[in-house]
Amino acid sequence: MENLDKIVSLCKRRGFVFPSSEIYGGLGGFWDFGPLGVELKNNIKSWWWQTMVQAREEIVGLDSTIIHNPKVWQASGHTLSFTDPLRECKECHKRFRADQLKGEKCPECQGKLTNVKQFNLMFETYIGSAKETANKAYLRPETCQGIFINFANVVDTVQPKLPFGIAQIGKGFRNEITLGNFIFRDREFEMMELEYFVRPEEDEKWFDYWLKERLKWYLDLGISKKNLRFFEHPKKSLAHYSKRTVDIEYHFPFGWAELEGVANRTDFDLKNQSRFSNKDLRFQDEKGEKLYPYVIEPSVGVERIALALLVEAYREEKDKKEIRVLLSLHPQIAPIKAAVFPLLANKANLVKKAKEIYDDLKICFNVAWDDIGNIGKRYRRQDEIGTPWCVTVDFETLKDKKVTVRDRETMKQQRVAIDKLKEFFQTKLV
Ligand code: GAP
Repeated sequence: MENLDKIVSLCKRRGFVFPSSEIYGGLGGFWDFGPLGVELKNNIKSWWWQTMVQAREEIVGLDSTIIHNPKVWQASGHTLSFTDPLRECKECHKRFRADQLKGEKCPECQGKLTNVKQFNLMFETYIGSAKETANKAYLRPETCQGIFINFANVVDTVQPKLPFGIAQIGKGFRNEITLGNFIFRDREFEMMELEYFVRPEEDEKWFDYWLKERLKWYLDLGISKKNLRFFEHPKKSLAHYSKRTVDIEYHFPFGWAELEGVANRTDFDLKNQSRFSNKDLRFQDEKGEKLYPYVIEPSVGVERIALALLVEAYREEKDKKEIRVLLSLHPQIAPIKAAVFPLLANKANLVKKAKEIYDDLKICFNVAWDDIGNIGKRYRRQDEIGTPWCVTVDFETLKDKKVTVRDRETMKQQRVAIDKLKEFFQTKLV
């Protein structure tokens, strides 16, 4: 947990993550992402989108609303079943998840606890000016129902063949009872979900396929194999819609915990949305046969990936007499790709050349400018936020039109011609 505390502090100090509404004392389970955090999240999302949607012929994207017709949540089973068992302390009124409590007393003040109540995790809101039950709606607790209710629209427009997928990235909201562990469990978070529609008799094959693909996705991002494992949900604890669920777990500083879930949702959602809406959501195949496809769903929260990547990347290394803190992030994910420095901030000709290079690079990459303090300190500042390369303009540059590029991982330096810099970064960023 020591590393987690250090990561939390780094995230605050360097502008990755701030507690939401901090000037009012914060709001439990809500986090804001600062200048570096927003870049980190955007990079995770675009990597997911690029690999899961754009690089695949049979998967298309969608962006549905956060609030749906409330009947959607009746059909999905969420109004009845999306609950956690809750007990409240009769003395201090703190609330706890009954399944996480040890013993019969309040862990905070030893007070008596109420009996178990089922607590629905969906946030309620009202549409229009009258706060009446008839106008009650919910903030979506998962993005996938937006996909199921648009199934016919997408099929009509892209006319796919089975198997095919519809993917979506968007906010999800859950009124979680227990929080903690930084951004691991939030009340507002972003989800990346793929609904992959397959022939019912091929569900197991595609389930295995997606489990392997998703594990590989994390390995490709630089997460080590020893920190990833599968957890097979026992049949009796499966969600109401699932035939099989396997979590990809990550070894966080607080223990093994779910990073992503891969579920076989069968035809549960399409059938139920069809029944409640009275619309035929069956798929017509090449032979004219109508069927409800089964759905394999890899689903993950962006904040959980961000946390796993930060934990995985955080390192402290001995460097001479000092400790070098670095985030060893994959270059695609690093918020800033390169930082440009003039060797001396008071030499106008160096500053002018460095600015020219910075202005040219910033059209293609997210680059930073730093001319404060000595070069060693600037390297340290960039290491700590995971910038893979630092570019220094020195007196030689004015003569040989080359710059010094220093690598975050090896700290090795090499001279690169200014007109080859973009290409140098581009080849490393694929
Ligand atoms: N549509 C399926 C679904 O929602 P889930 O296992 O409840 O399944 C999917 O959630 C993923 O969303 C999880 O694996 C996790 O990465 C993320 N997630 C769920 N609840 C979260 C929370 N309260 N805070 C942050 N991420 C969360």
